[in-house]
Amino acid sequence: MIHYRRIAKALVSLVLVVISCLFGNDLFAQANGQALFSANCASCHAPYKDLTGPALAGVEERWGDNKRLYAWIRNNQAVLKTGDKYANELYLKWNKTPMNLFPNLTDPEIDAILSYIKSVPAPNTEGPAGGGATATSQGEDNTLLYGILTLVLAVIALILLQVNSNLKKLSDDKEGHPSLDPVPFWRNKAYIALIAILLFCIGGYMTVTGAIGLGRTKGYNPTQPIYYSHKVHAGTNQISCLYCHGGAQEGKHANIPSVNVCMNCHMAINEYTGKDKLITAEGKEVDGTNEIKKLYEYAGFDPAVSKVWDPSKAKPIDWTRVHSLPDHVYFNHSQHVKAGKVQCQTCHGEVQKMDAAYQFAELSMGWCVNCHRTTQVQFKDNGFYSIYQKFHDDLKNGRIDSTKGITVEKIGGTECQKCHY
Ligand code: HEC
Ligand code: HEC
Ligand code: HEC
Ligand code: HEC
Ligand code: HEC
Ligand code: HEC
Repeated sequence: MIHYRRIAKALVSLVLVVISCLFGNDLFAQANGQALFSANCASCHAPYKDLTGPALAGVEERWGDNKRLYAWIRNNQAVLKTGDKYANELYLKWNKTPMNLFPNLTDPEIDAILSYIKSVPAPNTEGPAGGGATATSQGEDNTLLYGILTLVLAVIALILLQVNSNLKKLSDDKEGHPSLDPVPFWRNKAYIALIAILLFCIGGYMTVTGAIGLGRTKGYNPTQPIYYSHKVHAGTNQISCLYCHGGAQEGKHANIPSVNVCMNCHMAINEYTGKDKLITAEGKEVDGTNEIKKLYEYAGFDPAVSKVWDPSKAKPIDWTRVHSLPDHVYFNHSQHVKAGKVQCQTCHGEVQKMDAAYQFAELSMGWCVNCHRTTQVQFKDNGFYSIYQKFHDDLKNGRIDSTKGITVEKIGGTECQKCHY
């Protein structure tokens, strides 16, 4: 008899733990969706706005078939090769811009990303993605549903445990065993232990995700004082990055251009008539001419009063800094741009297609070190490297395979003190 009761008790506890893990995981997954999306997809996708890739709201309806969609997200190149009509048309429409491969994403992770996308409320404007409102309520329903289900199951489990202990008391009484009154559940050690374990799990999970996200601001895209579009300037109008960020060639910092640099052109260009639509991250349309007026306010220039501009009246524009490494890290632009011949886009993404520049790369230590491990130093015709005569000789006499070349790691690019003060 006693054995059965023990087994029953153990079973109930087991069920409780399993249930809390199952549903707990699902709840975590919901929260995780946003993190996964910002870590993997946000550099190219937004829910309601086309970036490098299409707006993703309503994407499940567009694909219809989840199996194909999941396959696409994991390995879009493989789906293209199968000759999938929708996928190939999409690829052409996006000028064959390749999407990254994510072979390691699991089904629950993709679920989480997709339900995060659904949970983002649609902007008020009539954006390219319709049907956002219904999608939103679906996302919220899910979270609520899981919450209620978990609660109901927890209550059932509690009742079961209580019944179990009452039964035990009854049968003990019947058999004439002296027995204590059942312990109320708030003093029951088993409950306390269970709750402690649950809290520990949740706390641990939150600490870990919090710590991983600490100081990581990939995708960071603050609202700037003037809606300045890189797409209009560096993309459509083909202004070289170095015209405004010339510092990247010369030294440590790329620098943000001063009002004077803007006014070189904007003395003459006082309205925006371009074809590129200017849309904020929230999906609102921006009046470019009005933004140029804001520039004039900073410059202290009023074309209605005088056609001549007095630069001494200018105030600096308080741009919000997007990228920022911790103080203990040394990073030098010219070393990468001029000596290393690394393209701006490798680290900053396709800025010429972005409106506001946002943080494309993770800027973590792993990001720097991985690139140093895999990138070859550009020795060829590069006077900067004449100091590494030994490598040149080894390359010439074949001691180093010239197709493999010399990675940044080989010249010391993974030594701590190269990057840390
Ligand atoms: C490097 C940029 C890039 C990244 C990162 C990226 N994508 Fe894409 N994605 C694209 C482009 C570009 C397309 C359009 C098709 C093409 O050209 O390959 C696309 C298409 C899609 C589509 C089909 C859209 C439609 O309208 O049918 C889905 C779904 C998608 N991406 C999901 C994701 C998810 C989920 C992630 C993150 C795990 C992600 N993408 C990360 C660039 C990217
Ligand atoms: C006409 C001037 C101009 C040109 C050309 C230009 N930029 Fe910018 N850039 C700016 C201004 C102004 C800002 C500050 C506002 C912002 O962050 O969007 C900025 C910001 C940035 C930032 C974010 C800086 C931060 O705060 O961390 C990056 C990265 C960047 N630009 C890269 C580029 C690249 C790459 C190109 C070439 C494809 C380019 N820019 C071309 C004016 C310019
Ligand atoms: C080399 C010339 C040049 C420089 C330098 C320049 N612009 Fe422009 N700007 C343009 C052109 C060209 C347009 C597009 C005009 C059109 O299409 O009607 C434009 C459009 C704009 C617009 C309206 C579109 C948008 O991006 O919102 C704003 C605002 C603007 N510029 C701000 C700035 C600021 C701020 C700076 C300095 C950081 C700057 N520009 C530097 C040439 C320049
Ligand atoms: C090897 C990667 C890499 C390359 C290549 C690179 N950048 Fe950067 N960029 C960074 C990092 C990292 C930061 C943050 C620096 C910091 O916080 O000290 C940054 C910061 C910036 C900033 C903010 C202001 C500043 O100087 O800190 C601008 C603007 C910028 N980069 C523009 C450019 C342009 C334009 C090019 C190409 C000519 C370029 N970058 C090439 C990694 C790179
Ligand atoms: C896209 C690839 C790439 C990324 C990302 C990158 N680097 Fe580099 N780095 C290079 C290349 C290529 C060189 C070789 C240029 C040279 O030797 O001057 C280099 C050289 C260096 C050097 C000089 C090494 C030496 O031995 O002289 C330092 C320091 C450095 N990088 C710091 C950083 C830091 C800090 C980051 C991250 C914030 C970073 N790098 C990210 C490609 C990269
Ligand atoms: C190629 C450049 C590079 C090299 C080499 C490098 N680091 Fe880092 N390190 C970084 C960057 C960038 C960060 C900032 C990461 C962040 O903010 O997430 C960092 C952060 C750190 C931190 C702070 C913890 C953190 O994640 O913020 C420690 C500790 C550290 N590095 C130790 C080392 C040690 C020890 C070595 C030598 C084995 C080393 N680093 C080599 C670039 C480098």
